[in-house]
Amino acid sequence: MPYNSGPAALRQACEASLGRLGVDHIDLYQVHRPDVFTHPDDVADTLAALRAEGKVGEVGISNHTPAQHDTLAAALAERGVQIATTQVEYSAAHLDPLRDGTFDVAMRRRTAVMVWSPLAGGRLVTGHGVSPDLLDTLDDIAATHRTDRTTVALAFTLAHPCRPVVVVGSQDPGRLAAAAAAMHVPLDRTDAYRIVAAAQGEPLP
Ligand SMILES: NC(=O)c1ccc[n+]([C@@H]2O[C@H](COP(=O)([O-])OP(=O)(O)OC[C@H]3O[C@@H](n4cnc5c(N)ncnc54)[C@H](OP(=O)(O)O)[C@@H]3O)[C@@H](O)[C@H]2O)c1
Repeated sequence: MPYNSGPAALRQACEASLGRLGVDHIDLYQVHRPDVFTHPDDVADTLAALRAEGKVGEVGISNHTPAQHDTLAAALAERGVQIATTQVEYSAAHLDPLRDGTFDVAMRRRTAVMVWSPLAGGRLVTGHGVSPDLLDTLDDIAATHRTDRTTVALAFTLAHPCRPVVVVGSQDPGRLAAAAAAMHVPLDRTDAYRIVAAAQGEPLP
């Protein structure tokens, strides 16, 4: 059962990770998915205790709704702990964090954002299951910047003012190195909103 952040399970998961990694300290310990059947005070108690014991440095979350983020952040703040990171799905093919409050809460709480599946699991590269209009738009912007669609898709995720850290999923060292080029493709507002409109499949209001 992966959704168990109860005090015993969360502590045991952390200690098991320490054992598997062969370390006595984890710099950043992130709760992968929220367990809605554990009270946030209990999660906060456990994370604060693990931190006080030196087993973890910073704590983070992943796949939490904005309200879940806010609630756990408030509980942790009472214990003197800040949520360092939130890891969320975001790409030109998955825009939810732009408008569902995910990025807003992260910015308000000064939580660093980490983006998973920035290439929609590779679909923005292969084009599989992605609208032709979005692919054409990415290709067009890529031509303007003399780069490729993959780089523009990564640059799009970097363009948000929350300044996300992009978790690139490639297992290919050459592609990982190439991904760094996205940091040098500053998309302007026109590019970014063109991608948003193409992804939504309708013009902006
Ligand atoms: N917190 C969470 O719930 C959660 C969920 C999912 C993932 N994650 C994390 O986020 C990371 C990134 O997610 P993701 O793997 O979905 O990321 P992604 O970067 O969107 O997709 C990675 C896929 O794209 C392919 N790809 C990348 N560049 C390519 C290129 N130039 N040409 C063709 N294919 C290319 C990769 O294949 P190759 O390996 O062959 O390059 C790989 O299959 C994961 O590794 C994981 O650590 C977290």
